[in-house]
Amino acid sequence: MEAPSPDVTVAARERVEPAGPNKLERCPTGIEALDNILGGGVPRGNMVLVSGSVGTGKTTLSLEFLVRGAERGERGMLVSVTEATEKLVQNLSTFEFFRPELIADGSLVLVDLPALYEKLGFDREQLSSEDLDILLRSLHDLIRTLGIKRLVIDSLTSLGYRIQRDEHIRDFLLRLGEDLSEVGCTSLIISEIAPQTDRYSSRGVEEAIVDGIILLYNTRRLGDILRVLQIVKMRGTAHSRALYVLELTPIGILMAPHLKGGRMNEGL
Ligand SMILES: Nc1ncnc2c1ncn2[C@@H]1O[C@H](COP(=O)(O)OP(=O)(O)OP(=O)(O)O)[C@@H](O)[C@H]1O
Ligand SMILES: [Mg+2]
Repeated sequence: MEAPSPDVTVAARERVEPAGPNKLERCPTGIEALDNILGGGVPRGNMVLVSGSVGTGKTTLSLEFLVRGAERGERGMLVSVTEATEKLVQNLSTFEFFRPELIADGSLVLVDLPALYEKLGFDREQLSSEDLDILLRSLHDLIRTLGIKRLVIDSLTSLGYRIQRDEHIRDFLLRLGEDLSEVGCTSLIISEIAPQTDRYSSRGVEEAIVDGIILLYNTRRLGDILRVLQIVKMRGTAHSRALYVLELTPIGILMAPHLKGGRMNEGL
């Protein structure tokens, strides 16, 4: 693949694909156990919230999804809000499944949101609805121009700190989701949630809009802290809602069914 231009102001030059994707077509995450639970992967074009408390593996899971996609020829884009993309790449380099060439050849596109804000001339602390329109248009242009098939936003929570009103978050997600679905781009949107909360998203409005929710949390068992994963919802497919133990390993994410029994302290 040819290296893309990172110029965010560039207008879409390529023909926009008209038809929406077949919802039953799958976008394999490349994480074998997760794809098995989902019957082959996330329905293509779905927008999925990856929610969890600190250190539960949200970024790792999402980056593996992008890397595995890039390996299959599906160009991925990471929109990073809090962590500088160089640091993310450094962390990613410690995983065996990552190859730096994926960035060099444009299979993986990294966008630093603060840099994009600067380019777009956003200088106010809070984003107005006009700013959000401009941001959506920039993302739209990037996704269509570069032919992005997998998108990750890390994280919507951080992006939301600059969006005061819940209805603006709702509108932003709705419009982004429609746009992505039209071009068959599957997205993982990371949401940071407090432990032991009833919510699946930071603001509480996101969970009804997205097509799917993958919930990650820490649980204590016999003194150890385990990472666990559960699929709360996924439109367009039947799936297990059982609890799985997640292992972050140098070769990627491994999952195993969570065995019942033993004392558990959920939601750390
Ligand atoms: N090369 C590696 N091999 C195995 N595990 C690793 C490796 N690098 C990092 N980890 C594990 O990944 C964890 C961090 O996971 P990750 O950053 O995906 O979580 P997160 O939910 O995004 O966290 P945060 O809420 O801070 O953004 C580390 O605490 C460490 O246990
Ligand atoms: Mg993270």
